[in-house]
Order: sequence, then structure tokens, then C-alpha cells
Amino acid sequence: MTTIDPHRPAPSHADNETLLGRADLNDLEAILAITNTDVDEVTHAVKDNADAIFTWDYSLSRPALRKLYEKAKTGQWNGSTDLDWNTEVDIEKVVSGDQVAIAAGLDPTHYDDTVLKHWGQKEWLDYGIQNRRWTLSQFLHGEQGALLCTAKITETVPWYDAKLYAATQVVDEARHVEVFGRYIDEKMGGAYQVNAHLRMLLDDIVADSRWDMTYLGMQVMVEGLALAAFGFMHQLTEEPLLKKLLRYVMSDEARHVAFGVLSLKEVYDQMTDAEMAERQEFAYEAAVRMRDRFMSQEVWERMGVNPRDVLPIVLKDPTRDLFQQMLFSKIVPNCKKLGLLDRNDQWLRRRFEEMGVIQFEDWEDTGSEYAAFELGSEMPAAIPGG
Ligand SMILES: [Fe+2]
Ligand SMILES: [Fe+2]
Repeated sequence: MTTIDPHRPAPSHADNETLLGRADLNDLEAILAITNTDVDEVTHAVKDNADAIFTWDYSLSRPALRKLYEKAKTGQWNGSTDLDWNTEVDIEKVVSGDQVAIAAGLDPTHYDDTVLKHWGQKEWLDYGIQNRRWTLSQFLHGEQGALLCTAKITETVPWYDAKLYAATQVVDEARHVEVFGRYIDEKMGGAYQVNAHLRMLLDDIVADSRWDMTYLGMQVMVEGLALAAFGFMHQLTEEPLLKKLLRYVMSDEARHVAFGVLSLKEVYDQMTDAEMAERQEFAYEAAVRMRDRFMSQEVWERMGVNPRDVLPIVLKDPTRDLFQQMLFSKIVPNCKKLGLLDRNDQWLRRRFEEMGVIQFEDWEDTGSEYAAFELGSEMPAAIPGG
């Protein structure tokens, strides 16, 4: 265990250039310069750089994780029989019916001075459909990332209770890949490729040798964002199959985020400032990559529009801005609970201020909130008052 000397100067953090490959967080050209180069490859290999750890201590030493494990065993569901796959999905009707889905959260009146000025109802609807397909496709790829990361955690975490829990999450994630994959294939006409920013983040998480970084990247950051994004779509969509699918996935997802928060709390409370600085940087980098991916550049390209012609306006669209902020409503309170916001002279707090998401810091963290997501419970609203 490390004792922390309160008089020691805070370690210096790397700058944006080192962490993100660009000096300005909002440098649009640099963000758009990152694209997938191997779109025709069927597989993608990443070195996972880690030792598989046996433990001979089979005692129950972390009751909170064991409780989560028991919940996971009784919370299982079956993607092929619990969802009604015969549901007819008329995607045009669904997207035009879903609140805000038609323009995917954009306000068409903002685009009168752009290349979109000739867009009518048809083009906006088409954009809404492509955006829905793209969004669900990125969920699918993220789910596969979770599947691989959780298998890795099962191997690398040194705690018995955590290995047991992580094994249940592997099954959960297999089910999530199954249901998103099937929905996209049968109801949406096939998936988009993984977004380059998302893939870069998933690669970084898988490649890191330290077991707590897998948890931080996946359970806290990626799954924290997923829980908020799924909640948003669940609340807005009237399509019954998708709504139920998301409800079921969220009941698992809340447990996964809790697994991350409960495990890392114990570890991070004992870390030195220098070790915490590396975790803060990792969390920041993950937050930015996820924000960058929501530029959804592939959708604009599919619509025959150069993203450079519209994104400067999109980024100022107040409807989208609100959605963008909401994606961080789980991540920020969870980072606060883990001590990541305020250690080292509040470095991560400052970064989240720059990103405009610090206002969620006092929302309920998922370490305590997860039971409310169980099937049969009244789930908390993703959008307050919505
Ligand atoms: Fe998942
Ligand atoms: Fe998950």
C-alpha cells in the first residue's frame, strides 16, 4: 500500500498534442483526418500484452462483487426467445415517428446557409435512417469490444470474486453482440464499419498491459457512455422490439458499470499521484475519442456531403449539443466517485470543464444506482423530465 505525501508537488500531465495527437481539442481537420484505412479486412488483430493470473485464494473477500455475481446469475435472459423477432419494423415509419430521430437530433432550420439548404423531408428522413443504422452499428462494435475486454479481465484480474463476476459479463456481452447484430442485419439492412475513433479507443484499451486500465477504459468509460446512450434511445423510440432489446441490455449494462466502479474504487484509493495521473490521462483520452466518434463522419459521406461543409454548424446546434452532453451523464459522477476528477490539482475536472460536461458530477453514480435497472424495476429516466 502506498501512503500519499500531501506536500509532494502534483505530477505534470501530458498535453493534448501527446495525448490526442492535436494541440486543440476542437481541431476539426485533425479529427476528420482519422479514418479507417482497411475497410475490407474481416479481422483486426491487437496485442493484448498481459499475463493471465491464477489465484489460489478462493475465499469470499469482496462481498459487494459477490452480490453482483449473484444478481448476474439470476438476471440472465435469452436473446432468441425473450425478444419477439417477428416484429415488423418499417424503418421509414419508425424513424419519422420517433421523436428527434428524423433529423437525428439536428434542427433542420439551422442549415439554411449550408450545402444542406436544398434538403427536403426526404433527405432528412434518409439521413435519420442512416444515422440510426450507424449508431446501432457502433453499439454493436462496442459490444464486441466489451466481450473481448471482459474475457481479458477474467484472465488478468488477481481477485477471485472479480474473476467470477467477469465470467458472467462475458456471457452478457455475447448476448449483446448477438441481439444488436441480429437487429441490424434483419431490421436495418446491415451494419456500418467500425468508426475509426472508436476503434482507436478499443485498440488502446485492449493493448494496455495493466488490468485496471481495461476496467477503466471499458467498464467506466465505454460502458458508462453506452448506458447513457442506450437510455436516451430507449426513452425516445416507439419501436417495440428495439425498445425491449435496449431495456434488456441496459439491465446488464448497469451491472457492468457497477463492476468497474466497485472494483476500481478499492484500487484507486491506494494509488500514488503519479499513478493516478496516468489514469486521469487515459480517462480524458477515452472521453475525447468517444466525443470525436459522434461527429458520425461516415454518415455524412454516405449522404454525399463533405463533413467539413456541415460539421462546424452541427457542432453549434443546441439540440445536438444537449444530446452530446447527456452522453457523459454516467461517466462524470463515476469518475468523481473514483477520485479521478479531483486528484492532482483537479486535472480531469478542468478537462471535463473544457468539454462542457462537468455539470453531471453530482448525479447518482452507478456503483449504487445499478439495482434500479433490474428487469421489472422502474428504470431512472435518461433525460430528466423526459
Ligand atoms: Fe454490453
Ligand atoms: Fe457491458
